[in-house]
Parts: sequence; structure tokens; C-alpha cells
Amino acid sequence: MTKDKGTYYISTPIYYPSSNLHIGHTYCTVMADAMARFKRLQGYDVMFLTGTDEHGQKIQTLADERGITPQQYVDEIVAGIKELWKTMEISYDDFIRTTEERHIKRVTELFNRMYEKGDIYKGEYEGWYCTPCESFWTEAQLVDGKCPDCGRPVQKAKEEAYFFKMSKYADKLIDLLKNNPEFLEPESRRNEMIAFIEQGLEDLCISRSTFDWGIPVPVDPKHIMYVWIDALSNYITALGWPDDPEKYNKYWPADVHLVGKEIVRFHSLIWPAMLMSADLPLPKQVRGHGWLLLGGEKVSKSKAAKGNDVIDPVVLIDRYGIDALKYFLLREYTFGQDGVFTNEVMLKRMNYDLANDLGNLVSRTVSMIEKYNGGFVPELTEAGKCTDEVDFDAQLKEIAIGAAAKVEAQMNEFKFNMALEEIWVLVRRANKYIDETMPWALAKDEALKARLDNVLHNLAEAIRIISILIYPFMHTTSDAIRKQMGLWYADVVWEDAFTFEMMNGEQVKKGNAIFPRLDIEKELEELYAMNAKPEDENIPLELKDEIEYDDFDKLDLRVGTIIEAEKHPKADRLLVFQVKMGTEKRQIVSGVAEHFKPEECIGKKVIVLANLKARKLRGLESKGMILFADNEVDGKETLEFVSTIAEDGNPVA
Ligand code: MSP
Repeated sequence: MTKDKGTYYISTPIYYPSSNLHIGHTYCTVMADAMARFKRLQGYDVMFLTGTDEHGQKIQTLADERGITPQQYVDEIVAGIKELWKTMEISYDDFIRTTEERHIKRVTELFNRMYEKGDIYKGEYEGWYCTPCESFWTEAQLVDGKCPDCGRPVQKAKEEAYFFKMSKYADKLIDLLKNNPEFLEPESRRNEMIAFIEQGLEDLCISRSTFDWGIPVPVDPKHIMYVWIDALSNYITALGWPDDPEKYNKYWPADVHLVGKEIVRFHSLIWPAMLMSADLPLPKQVRGHGWLLLGGEKVSKSKAAKGNDVIDPVVLIDRYGIDALKYFLLREYTFGQDGVFTNEVMLKRMNYDLANDLGNLVSRTVSMIEKYNGGFVPELTEAGKCTDEVDFDAQLKEIAIGAAAKVEAQMNEFKFNMALEEIWVLVRRANKYIDETMPWALAKDEALKARLDNVLHNLAEAIRIISILIYPFMHTTSDAIRKQMGLWYADVVWEDAFTFEMMNGEQVKKGNAIFPRLDIEKELEELYAMNAKPEDENIPLELKDEIEYDDFDKLDLRVGTIIEAEKHPKADRLLVFQVKMGTEKRQIVSGVAEHFKPEECIGKKVIVLANLKARKLRGLESKGMILFADNEVDGKETLEFVSTIAEDGNPVA
């Protein structure tokens, strides 16, 4: 029987239900699930929490665009997220939604406690405001002085808002990070956070009043809480704090909050400061993982539509199965570091490690037991002992019974890839054992039957141990292997992985290959074809606000020819053009130096907005505007001249 080891509370971030989740989100949840299953198998009473972070301006805007309420919007996406976790057999114990009443009332209580402590005050938020986006930005966030989201002009604005005295907790946070290094892993993240605080920690604006999709500030309901205050609280509201504290008392403080690297700051500074303010214990650990990258960039919702690699977990599971995908995510990437995601790397892992190494080991062993011993796992006998110079049996046994402790040690460090590697050392050793002992040769000589029996027994034992070790990562495969090995009757017990001689007379039964071999080239072709956007697909473009015909009629558009082009002497981003339009020659300055070399512009026929008011750009007059248009080539944003001559030199129809 597995010993009771106490409690273990692990959480994932709660995901924004702004659109369907992709492989990047799946990565974090798969790690948390493997850890939860591992701890359960070891005898811990596990609480595994996940959920969705449903408030905020972004969701409100998306819902407005679709003409539905934010609640309707999130309900739809959250149903999809829950469906995904169900498909992936994610073993969460609770799923918290920040729109649930249980969460709202408890966050309100937490806010009140912080307020009563004197840590929340009313002040003025000063920044740049983008009216169409209803967003405040700091000077540093602006791009060319404009809204970083939509590129439109911003106005200086002030908004009354509530602030949390983060600065008051700066010293305590430094102490926490420096004196409890295990609080934040990996170390590189910890150093970043210490440096961040040492630059000076400012009070945090924790309310908004420009939109209303959020939880009202209890002391002033025209304001809503900043979405991160709302979201971070989920880790205790889901446990019932403070009104239904049974689970809270049992599981808090959390053993680990698993989070992506870009949200480590929220979890290791804001969250502990909130808890300090409310006089509540801090989580034991925050662990920041790296990102899955697609072509050098973070896999993201917008990226999902571009490129060739399929990143939709539902499609990948459908083709390759849950366990193959989970194995790949856990085996391929090193916790804490970024890793490149490609379908090719994924398929190779699936083929080499799963179909070849593990799949072959099981199918060869089962076949041999069927063929040489009527389908029953033979007993171990003295007569069958290894008499070779090298004791292959002892070597296999040593690796087999030593693996579990190694897996434990790696898992305690969140080194999922190394834990799996330890298991595969055994898988590969067992395959090698078959080559070394050559059961097919032993079978030819009746006098060697006892030796053959021991070999088959040892292989069965190794596979039994493997089936326990892989259970937290691939329980379905573990079950399938145990069924083939005749172990269907026995529970998977972690301690059994430390013992070798347990099997005796089980009846094996050959089943389907646990992982079919994939034709990688064919698979890649099919995956890429699936993701390629058909030329005639009709997806509406994201555009600026609609305009009236009268607005358009004000534009005087003329054809011109660029006769000279040079770099602006004082600004790297600007090019200075001399453009001939009929009888007139004029100078136009454009911010396109990063897209075009001056010499390639000369001779181009262009469309000029001729009646635009002249203005000076870095000291040089610009009269009118040459028209350019955004384009996308091979997934890259490019700029094109709006031209009357097509690439092939013919006039555009
Ligand atoms: N709602 C917040 C979290 C609040 S927790 C109190 C949020 N949501 S998110 O949906 O944008 O991201 C959730 C998690 O997914 C983050 O930890 C993020 O790092 C992770 N990932 C999103 N894209 C990812 C990759 N491409 N690779 C790995 N993880 C990625 O942030």
C-alpha cells in the first residue's frame, strides 16, 4: 500500500478565454497534470487547480465585436477549454472561473482586508489614453508616440483610480527572494525579480473605470478591480477562503504555482504582496517555465493562423493520441527554457522513442513469451541464471530497480524531460538485453529452456516496472502495456517499481501496437496541407473604423514618378523623395527606410495623396504623401508601394 505523504497543492495559471487554447497553454497544463499524477501515485493527497481568467477589457471588446455579452462570449470559450482538458484527460480537482459567484464574493473580501489594512488608497492614474481602445498607456509603451495596439493618436489623460501600496512591501519581497531561494525557481528568474525590485517598486494601480467587465471595487463600485488582482486571488478563492475554509486549511499554502515566464512577476511580487497585506501565508513556490516557440517567436493566438506547423492540440491528439503528444511535450523541452516547436521534431520523438524503443520492447517481449512459453510469464529459477562473463541479468535488474528513485529526484526538480530520460535508459537497456541474450537462439536448444525462461521473466519484470514509471506521464499507455503483460488485475503502486521479482505465471496477450510507426514525410505533408490557408479562403481583415464617401471624396490622388530618393540626413527611418507629378516636382518625406533602399525606389510610379497639408519632418518639408499598403508575404508583414505598374511591368488593370 502506498503511504500517506500529506498534501500537495499545484496550480496552473488561469487562462484568458479570449480564444481557443493552443499548444503553448497545453504545455503548462500537461506538466501540472503529470506532476499531480506523480504525487498522487506517491501517496500525496493532491489538489490540482486550473481555471479561466474571464474579466478585463480585451474580453469585453471581443464580445462587443461579436455583438454578444462578455458572459456569453466567455461561456462559449470556456466550454471549449473544458472540453480540451477532458479530451486530454487532465486530472484537475477543481476548475475555477473568475465569473463564478464563489470567486467574486471572496475576492471582494480580500480587497476589503487589504483596504482595511490601509494598503489601498485613491489617487490619480496619469498616462496616455487611446479612446477607441479605451486603454491607458505609459510613455514607454507607446510606439512612435501612438497607441501600441491600434496605431492611432493618444491623448494625455488622468483617471481617478485606486492604488495598492506595493512599495511598502519592497523590503519584505527582497527578503523573501533572497532568504528563501526556493520560493522562486529557476534562479535566473529570481535574479531578474530582485533586480526589478531594486530599481524601485512603484505602487500598483489596481482599479479601472473606463470599462465595466470586472468585479466592482467594494468601496467605490464605479471602479472595477484590475484584472490581475481578481485573477491571482483564484488560488485561495477556489479553496473556499475565508467563508468555507476546510480546503483552505488543508491545502494552503500552495506547494507550487506553475506559470509561464512572462507572468512570474505577477506571481512572485504582486501576489505575495497581496497576501502579506491580508496577513495570509505565502505559497511555497512559484516556478516559471519557458515558452514554446514557432519560428523564433512565442506560439500565440495570432501566430496560430500563420505558418505551416499545426499547433492545435485537438488536431494533434486526434492524429497521434494524447499520450504521444504529452510524452513529446514533457520529453522534448527543458523546464525553464524556451524551446522550438515543430511538427517534424514531434513526429521524430514519437517514432524513435515511442514506436521504436517502447513499442518494440513490449511487442517483442509479448511475442516471445507467447511463442516460447505458451503465453505465460515464466518463473525465475536458479537453473536459468546468467552464466555469461558479464551478468546481463544483474545489469538489467540494477537499472530497473534503481530507476524509480532517479525519476523521483528529477521530478522533485521539475525536470520532466530528465525523468523520462531515466525511464528510457531502462527501456533501451531492456531492448539491448534482448540483443545480448538472444532468446531466439536459446529457444533452439531444449537444454537452454531454463535460461530462456529467466530471460523472458526478466524482460517482463522490466516492462512491469516501466509501466509504473510511465504512469504519471502516460496512464493510458501504461494501462495498455499492463493489459498485454497480464497485469490488468493489479493496481499501479509506486513502491512496486523498487522490486524486481514480482511476476509469476501472468498470461500475456498480444494487442495492437501501442504506438504505430509513422511515415514522417507523409505525416508532415498532410499536416502542412491542413494548415495551409486555401487561396480563396475568406477571412475578414482587421480594419480601422469605417468611413463615409464624403471622407474619401476629400482625397486628391495623383500619379507621380519618383525621380530621386535618398536617406534623411537626420533620421534613420525616413526617406526623402523627389516626385514628379505632371508639371510639378515636389519633395515628400516618408517613414519607410526600413522597408526600401533609396536606389530601388527611383523610377517607381506611385500614387500620391496630393492635397495633404504640407509639414516638416525633421527639418525637411514634406508636401503630400506617397501611398503604401501593408501586405503579408510568407507570414511576414511587408510594405508595398501602391503602384500603377504591377511586378511584371504591365499596368495594373
Ligand atoms: N490570465 C493570465 C494568467 C493569470 S494567473 C493568475 C494569463 N493567461 S494566458 O492565457 O495569456 O496565459 C496563460 C499561460 O499560458 C501563461 O503562463 C503563459 O506563459 C502560457 N503560455 C501562453 N503561450 C505560451 C507558449 N507559447 N509557450 C508556453 N507557455 C505559453 O496570462
